[in-house]
Amino acid sequence: PSGQLADTRGRMLHDLRISVTDRCNFRCVYCMPKEVFGKDYPYLPHDALLSFEEIVRLARLFVAHGVEKVRLTGGEPLLRKNIETLVARLAELRTPSGKPLDLTLTTNASLLARKARALADAGLNRVTVSLDALDDTVFRRMNDVDFAVADVLQGIDAAAEAGLGPIKVNMVVKKGLNDDQIEPMAEHFRHSGHTLRFIEYMDVGASNGWKMDEVVPSADILRRLGARWPLETLEPHYAGEVAQRWRYRDGGGEVGVISSVTQAFCSSCTRARLSTEGQLYLCLFADQGYDLRTLLRGGASDEQLATAIARIWRARTDNYSERRSADTPRSGRIEMSYIGG
Ligand code: GTP
Ligand code: 5AD
Ligand code: SF4
Ligand code: SF4
Repeated sequence: PSGQLADTRGRMLHDLRISVTDRCNFRCVYCMPKEVFGKDYPYLPHDALLSFEEIVRLARLFVAHGVEKVRLTGGEPLLRKNIETLVARLAELRTPSGKPLDLTLTTNASLLARKARALADAGLNRVTVSLDALDDTVFRRMNDVDFAVADVLQGIDAAAEAGLGPIKVNMVVKKGLNDDQIEPMAEHFRHSGHTLRFIEYMDVGASNGWKMDEVVPSADILRRLGARWPLETLEPHYAGEVAQRWRYRDGGGEVGVISSVTQAFCSSCTRARLSTEGQLYLCLFADQGYDLRTLLRGGASDEQLATAIARIWRARTDNYSERRSADTPRSGRIEMSYIGG
């Protein structure tokens, strides 16, 4: 099997995001609120998780179908034991035209200072780090486990030193909680060589109690930043880039906004998501996946698996963010920590 796959709206399969664990050591209020993800939360048992062999086998088939970009996510992906072994195997994959993958990982950085070198040695290209505040009190309010900002910054430095930069730093902005951190974060990451990106708080999953009026629109953020440091737009790196890119006119570097609520980007969404237990999801907001694990473990051949993947992608119609309204029902939806950002 090889070549390009288009869905019902002509969107090509290009990215695969692989969740390697549904666990996380943070309890970010917009993702894994403590009231829901408490001590007794039923995480997946070990044998439910795809093994590294299973992940690599599926990834190889996705790559044959046109995937060029693979992102490891979670939960917190660095909690998965021996994750660098998986990275090394994925780094060996080649596209049909012989190119290595763009292989990246999204992390909360709590274990990054310890793991950056091994990840880089294994062939990881870059990391994206989540950081929601520069002030410790606010950050602790967001992560809800008393994790300190300095430790994240140390993780970022270690990753840069290991060659995993330039690093993208993702900040989810939730009104009334961390919107006072917009300017301090911008100021900190100007001139750092890293790219800070502000993300609109989304209604993913069914746990975070999302309300439309807790979203800070990217346009407001850009207005605030621009008032202090004049900005100019940059062209996207590639068609369908999720973040809009901006540059500080004074040479402070690049900054971005991800406007999934106020400016949906479904029309160019080329991402497939593989959950921790091998369900294939075609949208962050899907309430149902396609069970690839049962096929895998039932003895399906590569060809059967590849055919299944092609059939699923070709039938894809998802465009949730184009249809979202303040009162879209949210029960039954998968959680971000299960499917990955
Ligand atoms: P790069 O190409 O490395 O910049 O990757 P990316 O732009 O896909 O960035 P990343 O994976 O870090 O995604 C950043 C954030 O954008 C995620 O954490 C989500 O909040 C949001 N996001 C990414 N992909 C989607 C998507 O398909 N749909 C929606 N609604 N939001 C998304
Ligand atoms: N809205 C927007 N972004 C979110 N993330 C997690 N939950 C949400 C949400 N409700 C982001 C995290 C991280 C990535 C994995 O997904 O901040 O950057
Ligand atoms: Fe963990 Fe990331 Fe979710 Fe925060 S956003 S709880 S760090 S998975
Ligand atoms: Fe893609 Fe679904 Fe996000 Fe739209 S809402 S951009 S289809 S993941």
